[in-house]
Amino acid sequence: MKFTLRDAELLQSIFSSRRDVRGNRFQGTPIEEEVVRKILEAAISAPSVGFSQPWKFLIVQNDAKREAIYNEFVSENAKASKKFGDNSFYPTLKLEGIKESPLNIAVLYQKPTKTVLGQTTQKKMGEYSVVCAIQNLWLMARAYNIGVGWVSILRPKKVKKILGIGDEYKLIGYLTMGYVSEFLDEPELLKLGWEEKKRVDEVIEWV
Ligand SMILES: Cc1cc2nc3c(=O)[nH]c(=O)nc-3n(C[C@H](O)[C@H](O)[C@H](O)COP(=O)(O)O)c2cc1C
Repeated sequence: MKFTLRDAELLQSIFSSRRDVRGNRFQGTPIEEEVVRKILEAAISAPSVGFSQPWKFLIVQNDAKREAIYNEFVSENAKASKKFGDNSFYPTLKLEGIKESPLNIAVLYQKPTKTVLGQTTQKKMGEYSVVCAIQNLWLMARAYNIGVGWVSILRPKKVKKILGIGDEYKLIGYLTMGYVSEFLDEPELLKLGWEEKKRVDEVIEWV
């Protein structure tokens, strides 16, 4: 299959309009199961070291479990807030949408039980492969006009306990997903002046 310049431009427009969506922008509308499958189909099209496909997706719908994960966020976020000092506007930031989004997905790395081609020297390659799957998921969700938020202010150990995840798995990402009221045109942290956007020239070095 040969793509056109228009296809490349369309892909770039999906990249640049993908956003991290937090709670205040999620709508309660459930996501159709077939759409969830399409998005996860995109996730598992990601590259993986040695084609190990070490990913697993736990779709969390249960309210009690989500409440427990939310409480874990609140307690970790209170600790995080202290690290930014009194003058910071960190406490005003909305950094999750665990309860507002219609579904949460815990993305797991399944630890290998045999030697994985390509992972013999750099042991984290399997985990990086799972991150590639998350990026695919995030982008395909955007193509369906569905927002995704990555919630990382959580202790993996606690999340695993709440969700009953065994030792053969490692938590890579905890995602929230749902239809949204709007996608911001730029990252929220850029709009709020928390960080600046790097230009492509700033991050390239020819050696
Ligand atoms: C690995 C990873 C973890 C993140 N964790 C959080 C988080 O805990 N809470 C949050 O609000 N955003 C989180 N984000 C979203 C980033 O803040 C966001 O991607 C960044 O500000 C750029 O905005 P954009 O994704 O809308 O372009 C995370 C993003 C990544 C890639």
